[in-house]
Amino acid sequence: KRVVILISGRGSNMTALIDAAGDPHYPVEIVGVISDNADAMGLKAAAAANIATKAITKADFPTKAALDEALDAELTRMKADVVCLAGYMRLLSPAFTEKWAGRIINIHPSLLPLFKGLDTHTRALESGMRVHGCTVHFVTAGMDEGPIIAQAAVPILPDDTEADLSARVLTVEHQLYPLALRLVATGKARMENDKAVLTGVS
Ligand code: GRF
Repeated sequence: KRVVILISGRGSNMTALIDAAGDPHYPVEIVGVISDNADAMGLKAAAAANIATKAITKADFPTKAALDEALDAELTRMKADVVCLAGYMRLLSPAFTEKWAGRIINIHPSLLPLFKGLDTHTRALESGMRVHGCTVHFVTAGMDEGPIIAQAAVPILPDDTEADLSARVLTVEHQLYPLALRLVATGKARMENDKAVLTGVS
């Protein structure tokens, strides 16, 4: 499957996917990386890995809809089968998410449906919970609301700072995202009637 990754910043999850796709047995080819931020560190890492990169930024378009149309056109030009959001900080329009439904996934740094949105690690610490983690889900119109494909949990330890916890979660994000993308790319995880259907997964 041809996969395009959308980023806004650091791109460590992007790099985890690129590394996974370096294995000839992995069922994915990363064919492009698009950022809404021309200065994103991840763009440099993608270019260094010889992957086509493109910045599609807010400043270049009069409206959100126009930007999403340009994004859609670029994904079509790159012949993307699957789109991975990896720290992409824009909310996509319903027209866009409907068009790509079942073919677009995101990683979020919490055990959804808890802690949608920003500052998930601080909120997990403040919650008093003893576990936290990350989720890969299909993208739908609502932010961080789509059907869940896979999750990984980590402990919250008594003296954890936000930095400790986010680093612990990030490490498992880098394992979970390639695993979840493999399920989608092989058709073992599909979206049907707004639900994630998993087959051949034990
Ligand atoms: C990750 O924590 C991801 O879960 C969230 O944004 C962060 C992106 O980090 N959506 P990176 O750019 O992949 O390093």
